[in-house]
Amino acid sequence: MKRQVHSSVRWRIVLIYFMLVFIAMTIVSVFLIDRIESYQMSSLRDNITNTVRGSNLLSFLESFDPLKDHSGEIQQALDDSWTSGFTQELSVVDQRLDIIASTNTSLLGKSAAELFDPDIIVSCLMTGENGESDGSAQGIPVKNLCYAVEGAEGVKGVVYVRADLSSINTFLSQARLIFVEATALALAVTVLLGFTLARSITVPINDVTDKVQIMSQGDFDIRVPVKSDDEIGQLAEMFNMLAGRLGATISEINNEKNKLGTILRYMADGLVAIDLSGSLLHANPAARTILGLDQEADLEGADYEDIMGHLDEKLSLDRIKEGCDSGGGQTVYRKGSETYVIRFDRFKDENGKDVGIILVIQDITERQKLEDMQTDFVANVSHELKTPLTNIKSYTETLLDGAMDDRDTAMSFLQIVDKEADRMNRLVKDLLQLSRLDHQQEPIFLREGNIVLLVNMVLMKVEMTAKQKGLTIRPLYDEEGDIRVNLDKDRMEQVVMNIITNAIKYTNEGGHIDVDIRQDKDQVRVSVQDDGIGIPPESLPRIFERFYRVDKARSRAMGGTGLGLAITKEIVDSHGGSLEAESKPGEGTKITIVLPVIIRRGVRDIE
Ligand SMILES: Nc1ncnc2c1ncn2[C@@H]1O[C@H](COP(=O)(O)OP(=O)(O)OP(=O)(O)O)[C@@H](O)[C@H]1O
Ligand SMILES: [Mg+2]
Repeated sequence: MKRQVHSSVRWRIVLIYFMLVFIAMTIVSVFLIDRIESYQMSSLRDNITNTVRGSNLLSFLESFDPLKDHSGEIQQALDDSWTSGFTQELSVVDQRLDIIASTNTSLLGKSAAELFDPDIIVSCLMTGENGESDGSAQGIPVKNLCYAVEGAEGVKGVVYVRADLSSINTFLSQARLIFVEATALALAVTVLLGFTLARSITVPINDVTDKVQIMSQGDFDIRVPVKSDDEIGQLAEMFNMLAGRLGATISEINNEKNKLGTILRYMADGLVAIDLSGSLLHANPAARTILGLDQEADLEGADYEDIMGHLDEKLSLDRIKEGCDSGGGQTVYRKGSETYVIRFDRFKDENGKDVGIILVIQDITERQKLEDMQTDFVANVSHELKTPLTNIKSYTETLLDGAMDDRDTAMSFLQIVDKEADRMNRLVKDLLQLSRLDHQQEPIFLREGNIVLLVNMVLMKVEMTAKQKGLTIRPLYDEEGDIRVNLDKDRMEQVVMNIITNAIKYTNEGGHIDVDIRQDKDQVRVSVQDDGIGIPPESLPRIFERFYRVDKARSRAMGGTGLGLAITKEIVDSHGGSLEAESKPGEGTKITIVLPVIIRRGVRDIE
């Protein structure tokens, strides 16, 4: 197809040249041949006329009257002076159109009307003017000339000359042949030159076209050689400039696209772009994860309603478009325990025309959780403080109302008030400690210490309480052991104490508490295993939350605030350790503290 266009240009140039030369040559030939012919004819005519006039033949004939009576003399005169040296045929015709004398004796006595052109003879006889016509005699082309012979009473006869035109015609045919040959030669040269010229135009154009084709496949480094300073050279130069600029622009666009692609791929928020009709243009990996779509699937052109619109009435295309009309919008979408905020707005093309809608899906689950936790925390604190306060208030009121008079009642009431005040005190202390831990204001002094000694000490402290409750504490570890850990002694003691106290609190009489310490590579695992009431699986992940208690009434009855494990977790975190909890309701609970161990270097290492 491309080649056809180029060759057609080439052929057109050649054809135009061909036509130009052909037309020019034809006009010149026709004009020249015509001029040569008329020149030849007039010179023939002038020649004969001059000969006829110059020979006094006409005045000689005028002296005979009538002509026919002197035919013998006239023939004699013709024979004498005209048969030799005059190549044409000359005859004398009288008024009655009889040939009375002729250089061609075979014509004598015959009628001129049959042999000659009677029209010019008659018109010559009538008007006295010389006549002329073209004709043929026995197949030979001839020129007929007619000269009037004046008599006393007008024209009495004519001299009729027939000139043979064969040689002139042969000459003209020769001339025509020469012109045809010249034209053919000129045309051949024209075609040749035309081709060369056309090639000099089409070859560079073909070159540019080929390069454009290569460029269309994405190769912008291609250049066309600039061979001349003319229009074609300029075209090549312009092409090279265009290719350069296009290459730079495309690579800039590609860079931007790659940058954008990378940003979209790695951004934590989901991004979905659709056109105004609701067909999907793009969905980044985060969006695919959130929407539960296949990461690899080609979603271009998929229907927005199938992908997002059906999730929530607020996310339908119509509602989103409405939102965009009022300058973009946002909506909160909840999926199970996850919360997302979806922001959307239109995006425009370079002319400011709306092209589609972009939706950004942000996972705000954590933030929401935090907000919920804060609200819960405030509610919990208020509630926890309110309960003892209400108790204190009601007992003091009862005392003031007269119960004070009964000493025993007063004593028991005051004990309750004291217990509730203690409880409040503990609560406030715990809260303060948590707040200090939160804000990293609780000073933690990490020093190298033996965790085994620390656990031994805690067990000693709780021994009495356990005994009172009829519980057996069994240390399974080597009590003489030495496992070095970086720890804040008081805080870590609080941690172990909290965990063992819990085990004591939530284990029924006659139960057992096994305490073990094991070193596992660079970690030490301190575990407290009881055979108490256990924790239901749904509560297990929540026991480290603030104020969380499985059985609120039971815990409160035992003076618990639900902050113990929360504080424990904060402290263990600040030691770079972690807590693990396993439990089966009715079978018991195992809480493990995992701490990093100080690796003792060999003597050689110290050296
Ligand atoms: N060993 C255990 N066996 C059964 N349940 C437990 C055990 N340890 C903790 N729990 C559950 O986890 C909850 C949270 O424990 P946490 O120590 O934080 O609070 P508490 O013991 O109720 O109060 P506090 O420790 O502040 O006096 C407890 O209320 C209890 O329901
Ligand atoms: Mg506790």
